[in-house]
Amino acid sequence: MNMMLRRLSRAAAAGLVAAAALTAAAHSAEAADTLGSAAAGQGRYFGTAVAAGHLGEADYTATLDREFGSVTPENEMKWDATEPSRGTFTFTSADRIVDHAQSRGMDVRGHTLVWHSQLPSWVGTLGASDLRTAMKDHISGLMGHYKGEIHSWDVVNEAFQDGGSGARRSSPFQDKLGDGFIEEAFRAARAADPAAKLCYNDYNTDGVNAKSTAVYNMVKDFTSRGVPIDCVGFQSHFNSNSPVPSDYRQNLQRFADLGVDVQITELDIEGSGSAQAADYTKVVQACLAVERCTGMTVWGVTDKYSWRSGGTPLLFDGNYAEKPAYDAVLSALGGSGGPGEPGGPGEGTATCTATYTRTADWNGGYNGEVTVTAGSEPIGSWTATVTLPARQSVSALWNGTAAFNGNVMTVRPSWNGALAAGASTTFGFTVTKNGSDAAPAVGACTAS
Ligand code: XIL
Repeated sequence: MNMMLRRLSRAAAAGLVAAAALTAAAHSAEAADTLGSAAAGQGRYFGTAVAAGHLGEADYTATLDREFGSVTPENEMKWDATEPSRGTFTFTSADRIVDHAQSRGMDVRGHTLVWHSQLPSWVGTLGASDLRTAMKDHISGLMGHYKGEIHSWDVVNEAFQDGGSGARRSSPFQDKLGDGFIEEAFRAARAADPAAKLCYNDYNTDGVNAKSTAVYNMVKDFTSRGVPIDCVGFQSHFNSNSPVPSDYRQNLQRFADLGVDVQITELDIEGSGSAQAADYTKVVQACLAVERCTGMTVWGVTDKYSWRSGGTPLLFDGNYAEKPAYDAVLSALGGSGGPGEPGGPGEGTATCTATYTRTADWNGGYNGEVTVTAGSEPIGSWTATVTLPARQSVSALWNGTAAFNGNVMTVRPSWNGALAAGASTTFGFTVTKNGSDAAPAVGACTAS
């Protein structure tokens, strides 16, 4: 699509958005906050990475469109996707995301122009002067196509090594053009789209450490010499090996004090339940405490499509149910939930039911399964009780956490607390009969 057409589709989109806003206003009395609206109330954007291949899935786009104010193409703007052979640009998948975002009034982050990874092999074969030209052509070709349509670009991604040295990472750009390639890339980017904020983006730079200090020194040098840089992106991929640092806020603040914006660009935190929720709260609070932290992006909509799906690091589970982490982020952003959700109308009136079936049986034991179903309001969490007949004992439990008081087992969700109105989840357990084949009794389900 040429620029003219792209601009036309943007103008047409504005009409759609205005119509959508009217509909929303008519329902505002019962509307809950979303991540995007709550963040906007704090003067921030709240975005997500998006993959073009999922836009045809109704639940995916419904969640995306409802909750987020900014999108980052997860792979579609990378060099291998946009210029697979020299001088031949392909924008089909990236355009799909940008067009979708614009038609819903969402902003777009550009990711990424110069990176050692997802780089087509032809780039690595070039000599220094050809490489310099190719890098500048890539920047002007890609940024030119989306000129005026991208709020922030990750101009250079991951140019520093991990570890204590603070050294640059080996890449065709570093190895052939030297340290100056970053500055050259930023200057080319400013020329290609003067309206876009230009960011340096990296990981393991979230706390104060040798790597973040090396980036800090580069940014300080750039700002002192007038090299165009507007923002620093902190990827913020966290797990037990790389937890949310205790000096996260201080680190964001020291960059902001250099006169650049800071953005959390690829947030995901492996884990589940209240521990994951607490970590998300820390991140949101750190951003909100730094005036120049202009927005946050999570690295995907749903756990099932996360690049680290095994670690369930996102805010919506594989069924697009809101996880405790979602509630935590929404409330840290000052938002209130929907009907029956924390802070939302009808909180405390939510209901659920629990029904029991025996799913397997053998001489010494059996498996039981309890289905928990939300009533006519969505629920944030639930509690179910199972009373075991005398002599029986539970040897295993899944999809829930149990507390015992004599023969009464109280089960709470592990990852499966949030349920849409009428939706169900199950937990299961294995019982040792100890000579009793009687059925357990499932007590009242309580919802919150
Ligand atoms: C990841 C994508 O999520 C994956 O789909 C892809 O296979 C590899 O790249 N740092 C970045 C992102 O800047 O571009 C990476 O995205 C995750 C790490």
